[in-house]
Amino acid sequence: MNHNFGSTIKALRTERGLTQEQLAGRVNVSAPAVSKWERGEAYPDFTLIPALAGELGVSTDRLFGLHQTPESIYYNKAYDSEEYYWGVEPSTMCYEVLRYLPPTRPLKLLEIGCGEGKDAVFFARCGYIVSAFDLTEAGIEKTRLLAEKARVTVNTFTANLLHYRLTENYDILYSSGVFPFIKPDIRAEIMENYKAHVNECGLVAFQTFVKKPFIYRDPAKTNNYTWKSGELFTYFHDWYIENCCEYVFDCASPGEPHKHAANRLFARNIKELR
Ligand SMILES: C[S@@+](CC[C@H](N)C(=O)[O-])C[C@H]1O[C@@H](n2cnc3c(N)ncnc32)[C@H](O)[C@@H]1O
Repeated sequence: MNHNFGSTIKALRTERGLTQEQLAGRVNVSAPAVSKWERGEAYPDFTLIPALAGELGVSTDRLFGLHQTPESIYYNKAYDSEEYYWGVEPSTMCYEVLRYLPPTRPLKLLEIGCGEGKDAVFFARCGYIVSAFDLTEAGIEKTRLLAEKARVTVNTFTANLLHYRLTENYDILYSSGVFPFIKPDIRAEIMENYKAHVNECGLVAFQTFVKKPFIYRDPAKTNNYTWKSGELFTYFHDWYIENCCEYVFDCASPGEPHKHAANRLFARNIKELR
């Protein structure tokens, strides 16, 4: 099983805003024990599992990674091969990040929905301090392998962006092709959480698919909640917009050629301009 038990505990604990000490106190173990679980160096005694799941507010299935969503089933299967489903070349968006905020000093970057890690690993190779998460264990495992091959470090973990909220700040938040999985009613809350965790002068680099009357739904039907054209930009109306654009491109996945329309945004958190 690819499931990373420690990453799941860490993601669920931080989603709920608990420290290791707080979680340890609630299940009657020491804080170093929780730290060891999260680093994958030890497992909790199995008699603790129901209490742990209860404190983290999930089923025991979810704790063991057995709880699947249609997206996790689809992408875990797509990534279950030695081939890289999305290839290993970075997106052109990465080069724009380099242009707007080059790693001339230690900069912390988080990739949201990193897939198999082609962009996260590229950023780490460029010298950014990279963390990256995805819903799928298979994607995270391939990100880890790609980083190992490139001899760089990417701090990877599995998390569901619908529940996971940032609790620490980054200089750059990066996401491509993932936001269509966010239902419209929770977008504002998620974007506010992201905005609140970008350092002064930091950057968001976000891409999402948008609805256009002349573009059909993709054959995989995984992008259930395509955004309104321009919607992404509105959440950043009070930030400095470095660049925003709309474009249409060809996509070959999953084997049946089709087109997507997308919005791309590069926005900077500059308080003095407000
Ligand atoms: C179109 S792929 C893009 C992957 C990667 N960003 C890239 O450009 O190669 C969409 C990714 O979003 C991830 N994903 C879907 N729903 C998610 C969720 N709720 N939380 C985190 N990741 C999610 C999928 O597992 C998949 O890896």
